[in-house]
Amino acid sequence: MFTYTVSVTTGKQEFAETINEIYLTLVGTERSSDRTLLDKSVVDHFKRGSVVSVDIRVKEVLGDIVLVKIGKEKILLSDNWFCRSISVTTPSGDSFEFPCYRWIDKEKEVVLRDGKDRLPQDDNMKEYRRMELESRQLLFRWKEWRPGFPLSIDASSSTELHLDMQFEAAKSVDFSLNYITAIRNLGLNKFLKLSSWKDIADFEKIFVKIKNSESEYVMQNWNKDYFFGYQFLNGSNPVIISKCMNLPDKFAVTQEMVEGSLDRGLTLQEELKAGNIYIADYAIMEGVQANATDPDTKQYLAPPFCLLYKNSQNEILPIAIQLSRQTTVGVGNTVFLPSDNQYDWMLAKMWVKYADFTVHQVVTHLLRTHLISEVFAIAMYRQLAAVHPVFKLLIPHVRFTIAINTAAREKLICKSGLFEKANGTGGIGIVEVIQKAMKTLTYKSLCFPEAMKARGVDNKEDLPNYYYRDDGMMVWEAVKSFVSDVVKIYYSSDETVQEDKEIQAFVQDVCFSGMKNSPKECEFPNSLKTREQLVEYLTVVIFTASAQHAAVNFGQYDWFSWIPNSPCTMRKPPPTQKGQVDMRYIMESLPDRGRSSWHLGAVWALSQYQDEELFLGVYPDKHFTEQSVIEATKTFRKKLFEVTNIIKSRNEKLKLPYWYLSPDRIPNSVAI
Ligand SMILES: [Fe+2]
Repeated sequence: MFTYTVSVTTGKQEFAETINEIYLTLVGTERSSDRTLLDKSVVDHFKRGSVVSVDIRVKEVLGDIVLVKIGKEKILLSDNWFCRSISVTTPSGDSFEFPCYRWIDKEKEVVLRDGKDRLPQDDNMKEYRRMELESRQLLFRWKEWRPGFPLSIDASSSTELHLDMQFEAAKSVDFSLNYITAIRNLGLNKFLKLSSWKDIADFEKIFVKIKNSESEYVMQNWNKDYFFGYQFLNGSNPVIISKCMNLPDKFAVTQEMVEGSLDRGLTLQEELKAGNIYIADYAIMEGVQANATDPDTKQYLAPPFCLLYKNSQNEILPIAIQLSRQTTVGVGNTVFLPSDNQYDWMLAKMWVKYADFTVHQVVTHLLRTHLISEVFAIAMYRQLAAVHPVFKLLIPHVRFTIAINTAAREKLICKSGLFEKANGTGGIGIVEVIQKAMKTLTYKSLCFPEAMKARGVDNKEDLPNYYYRDDGMMVWEAVKSFVSDVVKIYYSSDETVQEDKEIQAFVQDVCFSGMKNSPKECEFPNSLKTREQLVEYLTVVIFTASAQHAAVNFGQYDWFSWIPNSPCTMRKPPPTQKGQVDMRYIMESLPDRGRSSWHLGAVWALSQYQDEELFLGVYPDKHFTEQSVIEATKTFRKKLFEVTNIIKSRNEKLKLPYWYLSPDRIPNSVAI
C-alpha cells in the first residue's frame, strides 16, 4: 500500500459548525485514487481556520498529483465550508500545492489544479481548463440591468449569487439597514419627519455632534472661495477641473465681468492664453430630469459652468458661475460673480457643488469605479482559468465587487431605492446621467496619466498642490511596475501575449459584452498585441478597483456631510437673476431635514472601511506559488511603503492632510 498525505486548510470565514460528508479524489499522472469518503472522525475536525490531515492509501502509485477533486454529498442541510488550499505529500516525499479559496457547497465537486501557473498555450490539460471555464461561464452571466449601462452580473438579489461571489457572512450588505443604523448612530432619527431647516446655524446644531476633524474644517471654511476652489483639486470629486484655453460658446462670461478677479493685470484672453484659467463644466446635467418621485417636494437640477482662476498665489478661485446653457445674458440667464451680493454668490456656488456631488455619485464613483470594476471582474471569471497568472494577479482586486454592486442594485439605485430618498437625480435622472456618461468613459480615460493630460492638469509646476494627481501618479507607477514585473515573468515576447487565447477572450468579453453599450470611440481594446499593452490594461484594472475607488469613496463623509458644502438636492429652481434671493430662499432650496438625514446616513455608511480590510498589495491568499512572483510582490509592497511615507511627511506640513491615496488606506478592491 502507498500513502498520500492530504492536508486541507480551511478558511476563517464563518461556516457551518458541523460538516457532514467530504469526498476526495487524487488524480496522478499515472492513475487516480478511488473517490474516498473521509472518516467522520476526520470531518469533525473541519472547523474555521484549521488544517486537517488525512492519509489516502492506494494499491499502486499515482505518479505526480495533478488534480484534487473535493466535494460533498447533496444534502438539504446547509453545511458549506470554505477551503483555502490543499497540499498533497506523495510516498516519495514530494509535495504539491493546490490553491482553492472557494466554498465547497452542495452544487458540485470542485476540481483543483496544482499551484503552478500556466498560460493556456503551455498547458497540457487543456480539456480541464475548458471545462473549468465552461462551468464558470454558467455561473457568471452578463445582464443588462438598465439600458445603456455597462453589463453586470445576472442576479436580481444577493442571495442568488454563488457563495464565491457573496460577502462573507459577517459583513452586512443591507444598505437599508446600514443607513438606518448610521442615521440612528448619528442621532438623526428625530429629524426624519421634520421639514425645512431655519438657517445655516440650524445645520450646525446637529453637525457639531457628528463631525470629524475633516468635516469640521469643511464646516468652517466651506463658504470661502479659496476652499471652494481647493475642493476641485483635492475633494471627493477631483476629476472635473480642466484647463480652459477657449471659453465654451454657451458660457456668457466676459472680460468686464471678471477683470476685478484677475490679479496679474492681464485680460481674460491673456490669462486664458497663459494657462491660468480652469473650468468645471457640468454639461452632462443638461436636460436631465430631476427627481419627481415625491409629489410633495418638487426638485430641480441645473448644468452649471464654473470658471476658475489660478491667481498669483496659486489659489484656485471661482470667478464666474452660470447655471444655464444660454449663450447670452438676459431673461433666464445670468453670470454670477464674487462681487455679487453674498446670497447670490453663495447660492450659485451651492448649485455648482450640487452638480458636482451628483456627478461624483453617479459618474465618478458608481460608473467609473463600481460598474467598470464589475465588468472586469465578470470577464475575468468567465475567461481566465484559475491557473492563469493573470487570474491570480487580479483576483484580490475584484473581491466582493459583484456582491456590493448587486446589493446596490437591490436596495440603493433601484426604483424606489434609497438613492431616490435624498438625491435630486433619484428616479429616471440617474439612468439618464449614466447613459450620457458612457459616451466619455473611454479606455484611455481610465489610464491615470492620460486622464491628467487630457484635462491639462498634468504639470506639477503649472498646477501645484494637486495631491490627488501627485499621489495618484506615484500609486499608478507602483502598480504598473508590479504588473510589469509579473507580466515579464510569464510572457517572454509580444507573440506570447498574442497567442494567449484566454487573455484575448478576456479583453474581448470586456469590449463586446461588458462594455457593449460603450460607443466605438471609447476604444476599449478588443485585442492585446504587446506586453506593454497588457501591462497598461492590467494596471487600469487594478488601479481603478483600488486607488481610484479609494480616492473618490472614502472622503464622502468628510466632504459631503456638511450639507451646505454639497447639497444632495435642491428644492427651488436655480436663480436666473441677481438680487432675488435671501437666506430664506437658500434654506428652502437646500435639502429638508428628512433628506439631509438620509444623505448623512448614506455618506457615513459609504465611507466606512471593512473590519478586516485588505489594503493595496496585501495578499494573504497564496494564489501564486512561484518564487519570482513572491519577490515581485515584496518589491511592490516596499514601493507602496515608500509612497505612504512620502505622503505622510508631505501631510505633516498641511493644515488639511490629503490621505485618500495613501497606499495604507487604499483597499485592494471595490467593496463598499
Ligand atoms: Fe464605493
